[in-house]
Amino acid sequence: MKTRVAIVGAGPSGLLLGHLLTQAGVDCVVVERQSRDYVLGRIRAGVLETVTTELMRKLGIDARMNAEGLIEEGFNLATDDRLIRIDITALTGRHVMVYGQTELTRDLMDAAPDRGLTVIFEAKDVALHDLESDTPSLTYVRDGETQRIQADFIAGCDGFHGPSRKAIPASAVREYEREYPFGWLGILADVPPCHDELIYANGARGFALASMRSSTRSRYYIQVPLTDRVENWTEDRLWDELEMRFDPLSQHGVTRGPALEMSIAPLRSYVFETMRHGRLFLAGDSAHIVPPTGAKGLNLAASDVAYLSDALIAHFRHGDDSALDGYQARALARIWKAQRFSWYLTKLMHSFPEDGAFEHRMQVAELDYVAGSKSMQTVIAENYVGLPL
Ligand code: FAD
Ligand code: DHB
Repeated sequence: MKTRVAIVGAGPSGLLLGHLLTQAGVDCVVVERQSRDYVLGRIRAGVLETVTTELMRKLGIDARMNAEGLIEEGFNLATDDRLIRIDITALTGRHVMVYGQTELTRDLMDAAPDRGLTVIFEAKDVALHDLESDTPSLTYVRDGETQRIQADFIAGCDGFHGPSRKAIPASAVREYEREYPFGWLGILADVPPCHDELIYANGARGFALASMRSSTRSRYYIQVPLTDRVENWTEDRLWDELEMRFDPLSQHGVTRGPALEMSIAPLRSYVFETMRHGRLFLAGDSAHIVPPTGAKGLNLAASDVAYLSDALIAHFRHGDDSALDGYQARALARIWKAQRFSWYLTKLMHSFPEDGAFEHRMQVAELDYVAGSKSMQTVIAENYVGLPL
């Protein structure tokens, strides 16, 4: 098979890129290792910046998002007993939207056939070839047969564990990494949220987040040691913990219900510096990971794709390669600022095992400062709502 752009991965970055290129008349194919149901079973991000909602609007795949997404004009930071509201809209004139990554991915997948975007699921053993030539290709195995896709460019949208980043020679790259000594244990349940807006809480028992997917579906997370396992937790034990954290802070109190999903995600900051090698371009989690505090991961994937789709379209429409040449610099400028904010909020809101009482008082003092300073609140709000493209 021949195409213009072969895209590896049908997560948010691969599907958004595929749709944007298809809309512009640039032929492309998306190749995904997992089944459609598996991809849609992964519960991940929940908060969308304008950069992400605007891409959905540009594609005209925004009807369900507009109908079901919740507009959030503020969110809360909290210490044990104190809620500090960050009024995003008053401070920035903007807002974020609560709409799950799973729903966004489903909308993009559902729209693909009608728009002529081919997504090949259950493609095993994807391998990238001849990236430094003008005729790169990828191979995969489906139903026991090896297939080859010849392309002008390959887009590596295959997440942190995919093959694209690994196809770049170590001599050409620099990696920056910080692993945190804890993860987030998450629970999704069909119960009303405890509060009308998100609460990120730093208490004596560590970090906890009260989030939601709708007025009837809640998403909660708590900080757990890296060594912890989901099997160590019963639903009751987790609800007990969440009640302890959020009953004193929230408007409605925690409502318990059966878990639709429970999982632990490790926290990591990671940047892979180079996002281009020959005819391969990386976008999203394949090139960078942020800790989830601040909800930047999915939104960074969207901004990478906004830059990369513009650059590829300029190449195919006008033979202009300046945006392709500038892609990495443009993307990294935004990535590093989002890394900074995610790292700052992670440090401010979690208990670090190596820290003592003094560091905890520093966190409380910083939050107290935020509570009394409009300037600090503005800095936090403008980063949370998303920096301009
Ligand atoms: P992905 O969503 O990872 O998509 C990559 C795709 O490539 C996947 O479908 C994968 O199956 C596919 N792939 C991998 N290997 C291959 C291969 N060999 N061949 C073909 N396809 C392949 N962000 C937040 O903002 N808030 C959160 O709460 C949050 N929670 C998260 C929890 C977890 C467990 C993880 C892993 C991430 C979380 N994130 C969160 C981050 C956010 O979900 C990601 O930033 C976002 O999914 C990035 O999109 P992506 O398309 O770049 O990568
Ligand atoms: C959610 C996840 C986040 O990482 C975050 O910062 C806010 C909300 C969520 O899954 O709802």
